[in-house]
Amino acid sequence: MEEKRILCIGLVCLDIISMVDTYPLEDTDTRCLSQRWQRGGNASNSCTVLSLLGAPCAFMGSLAPGHAADFVLADLRRYAVELTHLVPHPESSFPTSIVISSASRGTRTILHTNRNLPDVTAQDFEQVDLTQYKWIHWEGRNAAEQVKMIQRVEEYNRTCPAHQRVSTSVEVEKPRKELYQLFGYGDVVFVSKDVAKDFGFHSAPEAVKGLRTRVRPGATVICAWAEAGADALGPDGELVHSDAFPPETIVDTLGAGDTFNAAVLLALSRGQRLQEALAFGCQVAGRKCGVHGYDGIV
Ligand code: ADP
Ligand code: FRU
Repeated sequence: MEEKRILCIGLVCLDIISMVDTYPLEDTDTRCLSQRWQRGGNASNSCTVLSLLGAPCAFMGSLAPGHAADFVLADLRRYAVELTHLVPHPESSFPTSIVISSASRGTRTILHTNRNLPDVTAQDFEQVDLTQYKWIHWEGRNAAEQVKMIQRVEEYNRTCPAHQRVSTSVEVEKPRKELYQLFGYGDVVFVSKDVAKDFGFHSAPEAVKGLRTRVRPGATVICAWAEAGADALGPDGELVHSDAFPPETIVDTLGAGDTFNAAVLLALSRGQRLQEALAFGCQVAGRKCGVHGYDGIV
């Protein structure tokens, strides 16, 4: 039987990336190492990685028209990402990010524009045939709507046998209060370093232990922490850690977190243990840091 797909819901945008050796000073005129356009957005990046790892996947997100949209659509097709759940917004502008990626510092500085593109709603999500998917991942954005979508999946899961249930995960990446209601949903909750710091935690193990009471009983909470690797607290309260796997040379860290999330949820969806999934996430994310973009991570 064909493997069911993983659906990622969130942003697709255009990243206009300048690679620099060191981050430029304000009001200076510097030559960068290279520039490129790249499809971006956390959920869309995670789809790229899932595809490269050989997992059938689908993207659900809003789409405004224009040249940038044509570029990202062609790119999604190039990576064989299923696109049946794009929600068109003909009156909106396509979101773009200016990214300065500094190889020597391993940093990526992002300037967003998203002027008026509405996020996917619970009503849009009603159209999704849940029997097609084994896992649905939400990049935390319009949290109140996303909670309703997850509740729809939970209801569906109550009606079907265990092997047909859809697993769920959420990513709480931006330190925004509205997103924190998502902690209480999902089988797996990914928390970023920024969010962990917003709660006053100084490390990934501190964060996963401290956030345990906010996730629902039986859920897993995972926190990646750049070169310190990642930590997770499993359903039985087991604390697991993986070191990072730094490449020989750091080239480009843009999307390392999205890569990590994709690899971890793929491993978990294939029944691997939390420890293995975490190590796999760090390995693949480490390889991503050693290449421009995503090609070459496998
Ligand atoms: P992002 O900032 O893109 O959200 P994170 O900093 O959370 O990403 O990193 C995600 C994962 O990527 C880490 O757990 C680690 O495995 C890997 N990673 C990120 N930055 C580095 C780095 N400088 N060296 C090695 N691995 C890294
Ligand atoms: C990387 C990324 C970029 C995008 C930005 C949006 O994680 O998804 O591709 O510009 O973050 O927040």
